[in-house]
Amino acid sequence: MDTPVILKIFHKGKMKEYFVKPEGEMHTDLGIIKLDELKSKNFGDKISSHLGAEFVIQKPRAPDFFIHAKRSGAPMMPKDIGVIISNTGLCSSDNVLDAGTGSGILAIYLGEIAKKVVTYEVREEFVEIARNNIALTGISSIECRHGDIVEEISKLDEKFDVITLDTISAARVIPYVPDVIFPGGFLATYSPFLEQAKEIREAIGKTDFIEVRTIETMEREISFTDRGTRPATTRVGHTGYITIARY
Ligand SMILES: C[S@@+](CC[C@H](N)C(=O)[O-])C[C@H]1O[C@@H](n2cnc3c(N)ncnc32)[C@H](O)[C@@H]1O
Repeated sequence: MDTPVILKIFHKGKMKEYFVKPEGEMHTDLGIIKLDELKSKNFGDKISSHLGAEFVIQKPRAPDFFIHAKRSGAPMMPKDIGVIISNTGLCSSDNVLDAGTGSGILAIYLGEIAKKVVTYEVREEFVEIARNNIALTGISSIECRHGDIVEEISKLDEKFDVITLDTISAARVIPYVPDVIFPGGFLATYSPFLEQAKEIREAIGKTDFIEVRTIETMEREISFTDRGTRPATTRVGHTGYITIARY
């Protein structure tokens, strides 16, 4: 293999993991790993450090990129991405328009499923980070374009099945969405604040969307200990409001 991999080891009651390219050496507290040796290994095999610690080799998937990809800002959380995928019914024949790209995490999840994802990011330095992250996934159907979606959307001559907007500019983009969305297609927006969600609802209200709803998802991990079983006392707090509208 010559693509990045995940190395995992369960040590002293904790999972340690590393996202590495198969080149050079990596120094860990469990010894030095010769990463070149990965080239002759398969996923599921183990690689040993010079101290004999054995790390299992895994193929990175979208949740691994959420954890290990370089971040330009806060990426969308998997729990919210799941809601977008399930409520839009995203499928392998879909063309998707996404903005802003940010670190590219939502685009990567969407790109794992859809036929094509076109994603816009206004900040050039973020475009570079996102393009690098996307390149590491090996997904070839995601096109990361540099541009302001508010200006670019009216220049598009393509149409999309699903449009995702995770940008402060979403309400200003919505008036142009009917020109680039297929009938029956879905728009999904993400807003950290209710005020933004309200602006989005108002913008949607001025267009011909047929259905619209705004939701928030809560995630509670369950903790299993000798003392008992209950929701974990540390948890993911508020993330954002998702508005889903169908054209
Ligand atoms: C919260 S981040 C998106 C995170 C992304 N969904 C992810 O999962 O990694 C919002 C991004 O939108 C970008 N942005 C803001 N306004 C924009 C616009 N008008 N056009 C394109 N990108 C924009 C910002 O630069 C920022 O990178």
